[in-house]
Amino acid sequence: MSFARYKKKIEEGDTIILYLGYENMHAVTMKRGQTFQTKYGAMRHADVIGMDYGSKVQCPKGYLYVLQPTPELWTQNLPHRTQILYSTDISVVTMQLDLKPGSVVVESGTGSGSLSHSIIRSIAPTGHLHTFEFHQQRAEKAEEEFQEHGLKEYVTVTHKDVCQDGFGLENIADAVFLDLPRPWEAMASAKAAMKVTGGRLCSFSPCIEQVQKSCDYLRDLGFEEVTTMECLLRNFDVRTINLPIADLGPIGPTEKNISDNTDLKEEVSDQTDTPTKKLKSENNDSVAQRENKNVLPSFDIIGRKESASFFFKTGVTPNQMPGHTGFLTFATLYPS
Ligand SMILES: C[S@@+](CC[C@H](N)C(=O)[O-])C[C@H]1O[C@@H](n2cnc3c(N)ncnc32)[C@H](O)[C@@H]1O
Repeated sequence: MSFARYKKKIEEGDTIILYLGYENMHAVTMKRGQTFQTKYGAMRHADVIGMDYGSKVQCPKGYLYVLQPTPELWTQNLPHRTQILYSTDISVVTMQLDLKPGSVVVESGTGSGSLSHSIIRSIAPTGHLHTFEFHQQRAEKAEEEFQEHGLKEYVTVTHKDVCQDGFGLENIADAVFLDLPRPWEAMASAKAAMKVTGGRLCSFSPCIEQVQKSCDYLRDLGFEEVTTMECLLRNFDVRTINLPIADLGPIGPTEKNISDNTDLKEEVSDQTDTPTKKLKSENNDSVAQRENKNVLPSFDIIGRKESASFFFKTGVTPNQMPGHTGFLTFATLYPS
């Protein structure tokens, strides 16, 4: 299987996403003879192999969907070996670094490979990711996963301390991404890795002190347009709200005070197609309706429970929304 291409059928060895709900997903590698336990009961791998991706699978006590993995689904389900970047920040990084097919990107550290999967999707099939990690097992595991996910040709994993030894690359990168505790120690080497025609750099840091130091270093190295962003995801819960209909008194001039006001009456009769005439006609309708039929004015609502109140669907934000992951500092290197 490959994250780089969609395919129709699930085969043995594929890593697939079992979707039981938005907050209940599992990444599972298919192997005949094995069974996966879900809250709806056991799912035998052999029953799923050969099915189309996207199929609904019946389990003893409910059903689930078998999905083709995407970088976003992988980010939600990958085995964590480190803190990772999530899709909200990744989307800003992808846009601000101007990643596209053909881009050459340098990244450190690789960590759990969450961002790496998204970078590869954006730059394939003609681009390349050079990712650096100084923790040997993490570098090896990331390489193994890229191989399993059919991404090996788009990525080179190097086990290296980039702060101490540098990237060892020159004039090849369109973009550099740093997720390091002391990013400024890798910035001079990052600059050397960037193409002489220039490019973009991003540094992700959880603390503002790291950001301040990074910005100073970037300016000293000749980077321009140094900008820091914090990207917060705002959740909205869909709720049904029931509200009483407000009694705001009579709406506009009534039939009676229109007939009392000669000026307005003349204006109405002179300008036959004007909004004023429309208002008079609407008021006539609403007065007549209310007096004769005792109905409420019509609102743009989706339902009404009783005559004195109405209900509607709306988005409501939670009272508290912790969302800080880190600050994203971007900078541009112009051609020297
Ligand atoms: C927070 S993790 C990166 C997570 C990654 N962005 C992701 O989305 O999965 C930071 C990684 O940087 C690595 N690291 C820290 N200092 C490093 C250095 N000097 N050279 C290379 N890697 C380093 C750590 O081992 C760790 O795996």
